[in-house]
Amino acid sequence: MSFQVNGYNPTSKDFIVRGEDTLSTPQTMAPSLSLLLICLLALYTPVTSKKECGRPSLGDGMDLEGLQRVYSPGDVVVLSCKQGYSPTSGSRTIICTASGQWTKSRLKCSTKSCSFPEALDHGDMEFVDIVYQSTINYTCHEGYTLQGASTIECLHDGQWSDPPPTCTPVTCGLPPIPKYGKIVYDSNERGSCSTNGDWTEPPECKLVTCSAPTDINNGYMNIHDKREYGFKETVRYGCNIDYVLDGPVEIECLQTGDWSIKPACRVPCKVDIKRGRILYNGRTFWIKDFEPNKISHGEVLSVYCMNKEKKCGYAVSTQCIDGNLKIPECFEEPSDKFNDDSLPSEIAQC
Ligand SMILES: *[C@@H]1O[C@H](CO)[C@@H](O)[C@H](O)[C@H]1NC(C)=O
Repeated sequence: MSFQVNGYNPTSKDFIVRGEDTLSTPQTMAPSLSLLLICLLALYTPVTSKKECGRPSLGDGMDLEGLQRVYSPGDVVVLSCKQGYSPTSGSRTIICTASGQWTKSRLKCSTKSCSFPEALDHGDMEFVDIVYQSTINYTCHEGYTLQGASTIECLHDGQWSDPPPTCTPVTCGLPPIPKYGKIVYDSNERGSCSTNGDWTEPPECKLVTCSAPTDINNGYMNIHDKREYGFKETVRYGCNIDYVLDGPVEIECLQTGDWSIKPACRVPCKVDIKRGRILYNGRTFWIKDFEPNKISHGEVLSVYCMNKEKKCGYAVSTQCIDGNLKIPECFEEPSDKFNDDSLPSEIAQC
């Protein structure tokens, strides 16, 4: 602190006194001491003469420059809002009145807010508020790495301290190459990059063989050599005429040394009735004219039954399942001297 006193002039014009400097210098000791006394007197004089105002009380978020504790009537003070608060209303100026009271200020300071944060893809955020000094913590889901700041803070200017981070998928470096990698029979084996950034265990290399594939009933294979087969080698099957392939047309030698599931050749069906009409593929046939008497596995045909109460006929369908065609129970085999006109297929349909 320094102060200046006018009117005391030992050698030249104004004399500036700086506490310690002056006191420690012997030549100036005597004038300094008396000067100090004058100063103290000068300071005390106004304190006792008038009413004064104390430091004004400040509302939430308000600020006042300087550290002055005492103000004189007529002193004007401009209030402001602290960092992170913005003025919303009211005059900022207050005046120390003669009664030693401050005039009222209507200034209100409200906390500044930052923008509402956007959701983080593949991650979560944690926050309670978005006002000045609030923080948001960001974390990424498993398998993702956080790029950017994991915590951001709402600053006094209403801006977030950092842009929001992003979560990017974890990447692994080059995978370890398995020992004896060159003799791998399976070139399709893959390692994968796991969520913690490590590779899955590298594969073991072993020679896979499947024994010679076996025939299927009523069908054939596209190969004739009875040898062992290697991993992922395939064999195709086909069925003899009228037989239907059920299952995959191709089998593959699996990693386990077994073949994948073999198909089967499904057997066609004979329509086991002697007389009467059938409905097949939208057309009716007398059974004696149905040549050859055979339908394939999975195919459907109908026979006719009689509704005795209503005296009408109706078609009932049945499906060929691997050589079995179940004739519906309601079907009655006509006698060998049957009259066409009385058959359920020939009369009015229900
Ligand atoms: C953010 O994380 C810190 C440190 O773990 C914790 O103290 C703080 O409460 C968290 N903030 C929020 C808003 O959850």
